[in-house]
Amino acid sequence: MEQELRQLQAEAESKLPSLENLEELEEIRVQYLGRKGLFTGLLRQLGQVSAEDRPRLGKLANEIKNELELKFNARKSELSGIGAGTVAEKDDLSLPGRRVPFGRLHPVTQIMDEVCAIFIDLGFAVAEGPDIELDYYNFEALNIPQHHPARDMHDTFYISDSILLRTHTSPMQIRAMEKEKPPLRIIAPGKVYRCDSDITHTPMFHQVEGFLVDHKVSFADLKGVLTVFCQKMFDQKDIRLRFRPSFFPFTEPSAEVDIGCVICRGEGCRVCKQTGWLEILGAGMIDPEVLKMVDYDPEEFTGFAFGLGIERIAMLKYGIDDIRLFYENDIRFLNQF
Ligand code: PHE
Repeated sequence: MEQELRQLQAEAESKLPSLENLEELEEIRVQYLGRKGLFTGLLRQLGQVSAEDRPRLGKLANEIKNELELKFNARKSELSGIGAGTVAEKDDLSLPGRRVPFGRLHPVTQIMDEVCAIFIDLGFAVAEGPDIELDYYNFEALNIPQHHPARDMHDTFYISDSILLRTHTSPMQIRAMEKEKPPLRIIAPGKVYRCDSDITHTPMFHQVEGFLVDHKVSFADLKGVLTVFCQKMFDQKDIRLRFRPSFFPFTEPSAEVDIGCVICRGEGCRVCKQTGWLEILGAGMIDPEVLKMVDYDPEEFTGFAFGLGIERIAMLKYGIDDIRLFYENDIRFLNQF
């Protein structure tokens, strides 16, 4: 028995050096040490040796098995390339290092930062407010009472009857004016929410609100500020702006502002639907009713306000035709900006 054990050990060990890969090694391991292997077969015969020899042989068999397992493992490491040779043999230290992939800002964040930077240059201060907003700030104080039809365009997510996810950044007009007296030059960037979802709408999107209140602020000031903004944002000195009469309960008069299509420069294309114009924001003179809500005297002060959608600007600037791409988190898309 002892001889057979030693022979099996010698045989198995002699096979190890010539093995060329892990598959071959595994095959041999199973052949010798597997549950139905040669070694296990021998161990079963231990039952038949005399009770006198059994403890010694049992001990020997175990030692041989452990030794063999160690040798198999060592060979396995060699074949996997682990622990084979010294560092100098294994690694070529003259190879260039592995590059760490750089992260970057999301395109929406980039545009948001760009928009804010332009207005900061124009002397505006940045104010941020809560996404979870009171009905009072989102609607009521902006001259949109409980049953006003304008609420239909702003269907949102209610937390309770009086608390909701804000549908626009305009509540910041009220919050800022409640806190400070004119003159006021503020932009309010942030997330807004609406029950809306298609290729040009996501239930969450970003807006930047801007407003300015002072003595003798006029519509001409609004035009001037927005013109400079569009020139800088789209890097086009001769960009054309068009103010179309519109309606918002919190501005009077109100306008929808279009720019000459940045893709075709007015000739007509798919992006501007052959009109040559792209709508980019809503604006107007702050309604006297809103000024009264925050105890400003509308005879003394006037102001303008505007609200623009960041995704919309990013889409126009980069020629993106589906807003949902921003939120799919596909690295192949995001890497392009
Ligand atoms: N809050 C309006 C909207 O989201 C946009 C707007 C802001 C219009 C300020 C006028 C003045 O549709």
